[in-house]
Amino acid sequence: MTAFTLLINIAVIMAGGVLMAKKYVDVSDFVTFLLYINIFTDPIRTLIDFTEQFQNGYSGFERFVEILEVEPDIEDKPDAVELKDVKGNIRFDDVSFKYKDSAHRVLRHINLDVKAGSYVALVGSSGGGKTTLCSLIPRFYEVTNGSISIDGKDIRDVTLKSLRNNIGIVQQDVYLFAGTVYDNILYGKPDATREEVIEAAKLANAHEFIEGLPNGYDTDIGQRGVKLSGGQKQRLSIARVFLKNPPILIFDEATSALDNESENIVKESLEKLAANRTTFVIAHRLSTIKNAERILVLTEKGIEESGTHDELMAKNGIYSQLYKWTR
Ligand SMILES: Nc1ncnc2c1ncn2[C@@H]1O[C@H](COP(=O)(O)OP(=O)(O)O)[C@@H](O)[C@H]1O
Ligand SMILES: [Mg+2]
Repeated sequence: MTAFTLLINIAVIMAGGVLMAKKYVDVSDFVTFLLYINIFTDPIRTLIDFTEQFQNGYSGFERFVEILEVEPDIEDKPDAVELKDVKGNIRFDDVSFKYKDSAHRVLRHINLDVKAGSYVALVGSSGGGKTTLCSLIPRFYEVTNGSISIDGKDIRDVTLKSLRNNIGIVQQDVYLFAGTVYDNILYGKPDATREEVIEAAKLANAHEFIEGLPNGYDTDIGQRGVKLSGGQKQRLSIARVFLKNPPILIFDEATSALDNESENIVKESLEKLAANRTTFVIAHRLSTIKNAERILVLTEKGIEESGTHDELMAKNGIYSQLYKWTR
């Protein structure tokens, strides 16, 4: 019996007691009345429960509709073309950028010419805009001024889908969804064959540990599945990118959260992945980008220094300071 029916019963019995004492009703009437009341309270309770559920459901539905109605900030132009046969030459032409709701510019007058297949590292203090600069290439945000082009085509003139198909991103945080290891790699190219998935895992140094899991490639991961280490998750995300096989790569602090041992394994597969692709690397530890063909030092004034590790060390400027601090 719920508190509601209990309360009604107590109230009725008390009222009945008073009425019987004053001889307004007799006992048999009162018992009949009590039986009716009990039959009557159930549907009332159901009705109250239903109203409550309906209200909860309705406000949930309203929120759902609100989210569905959000228009994406960035959309294809009506005459956008497919970005095809990408070589990977990337050019920033006087690019400035500020986030919508913020007053200050994160990037100012960035000019940058990156040849197809080269390996470029971005360094600079935290909050300097390295992640922001890289997120402009897949058009996660639109440049405020200037333009970015790939193989001479302005990225605003191509379809978002084809643009993003040509860019692979490996970040510090790896997004794995509930499902099997296999499904999580397949996400990189949904129409791939099983052979292609396994090949990608091998290239990413992931095949061996996957085979060691309870069900191999069909092992469940995610919330209720097996727990993977940070390095293992990172290798799955690298396998995804191998499978996608894009000509342009962005590694944003991909190894920053790993311990030394797994960092080395992950670094090895990242280097294999980067071969013959245009690659932007952001790394916390400067020792990991020492071999980059070009290192760009990003400050609030723009790209202040640019060159190889040896050139920048010889210059004795910002980079050499940063290098000495973080070693
Ligand atoms: N989504 C965002 N909205 C508003 N400001 C942001 C957003 N993301 C980053 N910022 C700001 O932009 C600046 C550059 O950030 P970020 O590109 O992440 O730097 P870095 O990667 O070099 O550490 C920071 O001041 C940061 O607070
Ligand atoms: Mg960052």
